[in-house]
Amino acid sequence: MEDLTPPRDTLDPIEIASRDEIAALQLDRMRWSLRHAYDNVPFYRTSFDAAGVHPDDLTALEDLATFPFTVKTDLRDNYPFGMFAVPRTQVRRIHASSGTTGQPTVVGYTERDLDSWASVVARSLRASGLRPGDILHNAYGYGLFTGGLGIHLGADKLGLSTVPISGGMTQRQVRLIEDFGATGITVTPSYALSIIDEYHAQGRDPAQSPLKVGIFGAEPWTNAMRLEIEQAFDMHAVDIYGLSEVMGPGVANECVETKDGLHIWEDHFYPEVIDPETGAVLPDGELGELVFTSLTKEAFPIIRYRTRDLTRLMPGTARSMRRMEKVTGRSDDMIILRGVNVFPTQIEEQLMTVEALAPHFQVQLDRIEHRDVMTVQVEPLPASAAAGEDAGRALAMKIKQVVGVTVAVTVAAPGGVPRSQGKAVRIVDNRPKDGATGATPAARKD
Ligand code: DLL
Repeated sequence: MEDLTPPRDTLDPIEIASRDEIAALQLDRMRWSLRHAYDNVPFYRTSFDAAGVHPDDLTALEDLATFPFTVKTDLRDNYPFGMFAVPRTQVRRIHASSGTTGQPTVVGYTERDLDSWASVVARSLRASGLRPGDILHNAYGYGLFTGGLGIHLGADKLGLSTVPISGGMTQRQVRLIEDFGATGITVTPSYALSIIDEYHAQGRDPAQSPLKVGIFGAEPWTNAMRLEIEQAFDMHAVDIYGLSEVMGPGVANECVETKDGLHIWEDHFYPEVIDPETGAVLPDGELGELVFTSLTKEAFPIIRYRTRDLTRLMPGTARSMRRMEKVTGRSDDMIILRGVNVFPTQIEEQLMTVEALAPHFQVQLDRIEHRDVMTVQVEPLPASAAAGEDAGRALAMKIKQVVGVTVAVTVAAPGGVPRSQGKAVRIVDNRPKDGATGATPAARKD
């Protein structure tokens, strides 16, 4: 694979500034952001007052820990525009979650917010190895989802030629990557697998594609999946993270030269990792729930937002800014099966080690005779169809040995596992909704 390390003189100076410089900028901006939220959003005024804290109390970054958290239901309770901190006429863009599991979460951006967003996405795409003049095939969904339009903004800023293809129509995806000579692709990792399948269906070898790098995010994926995709396309695969409540894609991104976790763009987003049970801030290096405070956002400032994503903070490497480890999963996606915590990413890791199986999977949860039962649906690679049942047994064994749970594995025909065109639905929860066993439900779609 080609060395795509961006020249150092093309980076934003803050990416390689000293930690002291970064901390000084953060403190200034954090004071502004707390004050802005307190003065302009009734929700924050009420919640700070109730906690007995005031923006003026913040004299050091660590003081942020005394401020109250914000959670998803707070955003829903203030639907649609109650969390906006500027007059509605200054809002240039509105995005929203799909709202399939309740009230949609609405976020807004001023002109300056859109410009900051463009800057962090441009920085992310550059860190991934793209440079002005590259052709970007942007297969994240366009619309209320922040993926398509967010990447697009940053690609414009970096000076790429963007193909705004959005998700779906997989045959056309392959055709345009090839005909236009795309050098970069932005897409969910699960939809990338569908595109790889389509290459094979058309009798083409994805390794011969013009792509040099893929930038994958919007859902958890493992290093094992990275290898699978890198080998299939003979290109780099890097991780991009973000969430609409904090901005959209581009909150953090891996650097192509190290691929060792995602650098958080700390000049715009201040991260903390907390113990999800007690809310206490954990030292860097410890695994917990990621919490973000926006430092520059005007329309939709967000203070100590609990993402429910589980990760740990680590020191910077290719950049001065801290890294977060690849997200293992969300607390909502954690399945507690007879006392053992299981994340879909753990299943993915084991699946990737069984050669005869394709990388597609879905987990079904059922309650049979008062017991929770987990079934992993997989399918063989077309060339290994005859070995499917043995491979399924091998997977069940590996999951038992490594993850520590007994699961049933069903092997569908090739093409039998439902495919995603965006975020994959990894868990289908068929259990009655009475919560009688205390097992955690899942199948979240927003
Ligand atoms: O998924 C924004 C995005 C678009 C990120 C395109 C990257 C690429 P939401 O729809 O608000 O925003 O969903 C945010 O998706 O809290 C995580 O649970 C999950 N997520 C996003 N990126 C990653 C990633 C977009 N790289 C939620 N790894 C987040 C694991 C991710 N999970």
